[in-house]
Amino acid sequence: MFPKGSRSSAIITERRRRSARAAKRWQRRFEEQKRIHKEIQEAASDILKSRNFRSTRRHIQHGSMTVNSHCMSVARHSVALSYKLEKLHIRSNRRELIRGALLHDYFLYDWHDVDHISPHKLHGFYHPGVALSNASREYNLTDREKDIIRKHMWPLTIVPPLCREGWIVTASDKWCSLLETLHFHKGHGAVIEAAIETAIEDETEKHNIG
Ligand SMILES: [Fe+2]
Ligand SMILES: [Fe+2]
Repeated sequence: MFPKGSRSSAIITERRRRSARAAKRWQRRFEEQKRIHKEIQEAASDILKSRNFRSTRRHIQHGSMTVNSHCMSVARHSVALSYKLEKLHIRSNRRELIRGALLHDYFLYDWHDVDHISPHKLHGFYHPGVALSNASREYNLTDREKDIIRKHMWPLTIVPPLCREGWIVTASDKWCSLLETLHFHKGHGAVIEAAIETAIEDETEKHNIG
């Protein structure tokens, strides 16, 4: 061992301190992610289990991220941002925030498809309306949830979000989209996601028959 008070001993002590701090940070992050996951499951288990929402694994949003992974990321970031705002005493309705975030890109088509290029030429402008009408058909949306979905592409929508939750999702969506486009956030790609989905469906069907 190095003698107490020597330079090497000081370096080792500092390294230990740093790794203890890093471990604490990692633990906090892990606990927060666990809490976020639980909140999303509790607020939107019906959406997460629905066939149409799961079908968004078949379409790519940005880079190698599917629409499904993108919406999950936006929901997680939105909740994390709402925790930060809560520390500043800025509260938001978490249930509506989560449901709006999950459904914000519920347009249910592949925006890269040739078939959609002419009718949906301006996908950026057009898809919030399509997402809103699809989501309204399947869920009883609150006014806040509608506002989140309708305005998430602001400033393209011109009219800005009218609720705090709308601003949180709009900001999270832009942040996640940037990371996905620059490949900092990577997914498994639509083919693998779809294969996983088909395997799960086959397994469930087998289970139901058995
Ligand atoms: Fe969008
Ligand atoms: Fe999005």
